[in-house]
Amino acid sequence: MAHAEPQQQSAAPPRHVAIIMDGNRRWARQRNMPRVEGHRRGAEAVRATVKAAGELGIEYLTLFAFSSENWNRPLQEVDDLMGLLRLYLRRELAELHGNGVRVRVIGERDGLADDIRALIQQAETTTRDNRRITLIIALNYGGQAEIASAARRLAARALAGEIKVEDIDEDAISDHLYAPDIPVPELLLRTSGEQRLSNFMLWQCAYSELVFDDVLWPDFDGRNLEKAIATFCGRERRFGGQVG
Ligand code: IPE
Ligand code: IPE
Ligand code: MG
Repeated sequence: MAHAEPQQQSAAPPRHVAIIMDGNRRWARQRNMPRVEGHRRGAEAVRATVKAAGELGIEYLTLFAFSSENWNRPLQEVDDLMGLLRLYLRRELAELHGNGVRVRVIGERDGLADDIRALIQQAETTTRDNRRITLIIALNYGGQAEIASAARRLAARALAGEIKVEDIDEDAISDHLYAPDIPVPELLLRTSGEQRLSNFMLWQCAYSELVFDDVLWPDFDGRNLEKAIATFCGRERRFGGQVG
């Protein structure tokens, strides 16, 4: 096969960046600190990243905060993570709102504690008209669970006679995901050197560019984000239709 020509055109900057924030426990272990300290510093990195994303003109930032599989961690760690989440939602809401951040949460809410569900509701309602940047937090989120939930809702609608089985196509599934109004991420970034999706946005990332950074999440900052965007801009996106 002929070698690709040097690239003529770089991709436009991404509107939507999704991040698998990974490496909190390794960060703590390297410092002989308790796991929870890694998660605490990870929450600080979230604050810095949301700010940097706004400054870089990113319109949508999705952060994978807790997966449907993370319940399998030790009870104490799950408790610590939920505690940090409560703290984040309580403490950051005013600042997020003041900075024009619209907050959305994707994932299965039923599995979350009542007070956390209430905090999410409050954050979404308070910030719903903000337009500077949309922060999508993936909580109790699994990509397969999201697709299954779309399938269930479509099946129920078909049984109720609202839609025909033939109407269930890619657009119909997209329209029944947790946040159908959010465009798909052009760039998916994972930290800590791991190179896998871990059940994150399986449907939405069909054509996303994947970028991996060795940095452990608590050390992540705006420079890492800029670097990932520069890498993205040097990529040639093809969508299966490029003329060879
Ligand atoms: C990411 O860091 C945070 C969550 C998954 C909640 P980890 O806790 O996965 O840390 P590592 O990957 O084990 O270092
Ligand atoms: C993915 O990271 C989930 C989040 C970042 C919230 P994990 O650390 O849970 O994924 P694996 O276990 O390395 O695949
Ligand atoms: Mg991990």
